[in-house]
Parts: sequence; structure tokens; C-alpha cells
Amino acid sequence: MEIQNGSGQLAVQVEGLVKKFGEQTAVDHVDLAVPAGSVFGLLGPNGAGKTTIVRMLSTLLRPDGGTARVAGLDVVAHAQAVRRVIGLTGQFAAVDESLSGYENVYMIGRLLDLPAKQAKARALELLETFGLDEDAKKTAKQYSGGMRRRLDLAASLVGRPRVLFLDEPTTGLDPARRNDLWEIVRDLSSTGTTVLLTTQYMEEAEALAQDIAVMDKGRFIARGTADELKVKIAGRSIRLRPVVLADLPELRTVLQSVLGVVEDVAPGTVGGPVAEDDQVARLLKAVAAADIAIADISTVTASLDEVFLALTANKSAGKPADEPADEVPTQTTKVEAAR
Ligand SMILES: Nc1ncnc2c1ncn2[C@@H]1O[C@H](COP(=O)(O)OP(=O)(O)OP(=O)(O)O)[C@@H](O)[C@H]1O
Ligand SMILES: [Mg+2]
Repeated sequence: MEIQNGSGQLAVQVEGLVKKFGEQTAVDHVDLAVPAGSVFGLLGPNGAGKTTIVRMLSTLLRPDGGTARVAGLDVVAHAQAVRRVIGLTGQFAAVDESLSGYENVYMIGRLLDLPAKQAKARALELLETFGLDEDAKKTAKQYSGGMRRRLDLAASLVGRPRVLFLDEPTTGLDPARRNDLWEIVRDLSSTGTTVLLTTQYMEEAEALAQDIAVMDKGRFIARGTADELKVKIAGRSIRLRPVVLADLPELRTVLQSVLGVVEDVAPGTVGGPVAEDDQVARLLKAVAAADIAIADISTVTASLDEVFLALTANKSAGKPADEPADEVPTQTTKVEAAR
């Protein structure tokens, strides 16, 4: 048994992982490699298999096939050792309601064999980090949903885990608390902790994760950075508005010749999809050559939500009638033409 430590190592290494529940395959031959110290985001709709992956990696569920190693340790053969190096915050807050906030965190420290003094210091430190110091003496029964979640997160960090699994960590947190948690995740990552988080929020994956996997029905259907996913999957487009409306027909001809497609995107504005990086430069050259004055130019990159919809919309057998699956709504983001 070897514990990997240095940079460039894989904190999580998964090959052909399978989990079945009766007839249903909840996780279907998943491969995954998460470099130590990075944040990995697992995105997917309800029932995609995210929690099932987290539970197998945190030794709560035995895989039916494939292999999974965490910090170099096999999750089946060395489950005990894996438990010592990981932290887990499950999808539903798991706190002891009869104990106070402080007692919950202190108890975990004692369970992890910390001496009483250290367990106390660590509990106080974490309760402060998660903004619970003032409510530390209240029983968890009196905590709000968001407070319970923060208490659960604090408890998962007592043992200073090398690999931290967070299953929808910000569900139920208000925007300020969510930002606090993002900061904590970034801090942990900067000090070498590897974080694997699941989320329903694209924005969250984009804010935290260097690498994102989108999963649906037990399989990974896309992988990459947020930018890669946006450009590759939902695409990019450009739109232009001439100063003089009379130039519109000529501008259409130019767009058609460079992009191959031209669309009326707004009154007096035309646009089209950008498939290759050099098309923007070629288009600008062609517009200049045609001597058309441009009042406004913008490129539109899809949001991660659009990526998510584009990926999952056509995969569902029954499309909801009120949601046209092949039409992806667009969100406009103006960027400098030079980018
Ligand atoms: N213990 C179980 N027994 C039977 N089926 C299960 C069990 N746990 C999960 N499943 C099924 O496996 C599939 C994947 O579930 P999982 O909880 O991993 O999804 P998820 O991606 O975490 O979804 P959510 O976003 O709703 O939390 C679902 O169809 C679910 O019904
Ligand atoms: Mg889940």
C-alpha cells in the first residue's frame, strides 16, 4: 500500500467503475483522474449517479466493477486507510441533533484520536471559520438548514483530509454563505487539499473546478474546463450592427461568405456561429474591405447552463412538451473584439 503525496500525482484514480442497483446501472464504466491539489467538479441532473460515485470513493458503497484509488489507496482493499485520509460532506447534512454545534465537531476530533485539548482548539477554529462560533452552544436541533450544512462541512474538515468529497455542498446556503464556502474550498485547494465536488450549479463548477465532468444516466458525457465545455459544446457566435441600416444586405453577404450562415439576431443586427478561431479575424478583414462601418460588435459565448442543457436535453427519452430540446437559449456576454 502506497500513499501518494507529491505534486503531479493523482489523488483520485478511477477505471471502469460500475455500480448497479438491481436492473439499473447507476454508474456505468466511469474513468476519472483527479490530480492532487486540484478541484474537480461533477455536474449532472438528478439521478445522474453523482452521489453514487462519491459514496464509492468514500468507501460507503462497494463498487460492482472497475477500480478506484484515493490517495493511491484502493477503496475496497484499503477502505480503512482511505477513511483516514478523506473528508466527506454528504448530500444531506449528517449532524447529531442532540449535541451542540461545538460538541458535534469536538466529538469528531476525539473519534479521530485527537487529544482533548487539540480537539477543542480545532473545533473552535472550525466553528469560527464557518461562522458558527456564536451559535456553538446551541443544540443542532435549533439550527437552520444552512447552519446544519455548515456544521457538517466543519465536521468533515476536522481531520485535515488530503482528499475532500463534497456532495452538493452549497445546496441550502444563502448567497453570502455560498461565497464563504467557495473561499474555503479555494483555500483548501491552495494548501494542497484535493476536492471533488458535485453540484447542480454550473456557476459553482465554473467558479471552483479546474476540470469538470458532466454526467447523465451513469456516464460521463463531456469533460473539460468550463471554457472548453462552453466553446466545444454550446458554441460561440458573433453579431454585428452596421452604423447605416442600408449596409445590412452587404453585411449579410460578407457574413455568409465567411461563416457560411447568417442570422437576423435583432433589429438591424446580424450574426452567425463561429466554428474556427480564425473566422473572427477573417470576418473583420472582410468587413473592412467592404468598407462597412460597424456600430456594435460582440461575441456570444454560451453559458455553462446552455452547455448543460445542450448535453442533456436530447438524451432524455421523453422530452418535456414545454421545453423544446433542440433549441438552446442564448445568453449574451459582450467581450472585447480582440479576444
Ligand atoms: N441505494 C439505492 N438503491 C437503489 N437505487 C439507488 C440507490 N442509490 C441511488 N440509486 C439510483 O441510482 C441512480 C443514481 O443516483 P444518485 O443518487 O447517484 O444520483 P445523483 O446524481 O446524486 O442525483 P441528485 O442530483 O438527485 O442527488 C438514481 O436513479 C437512483 O435512483
Ligand atoms: Mg446526489
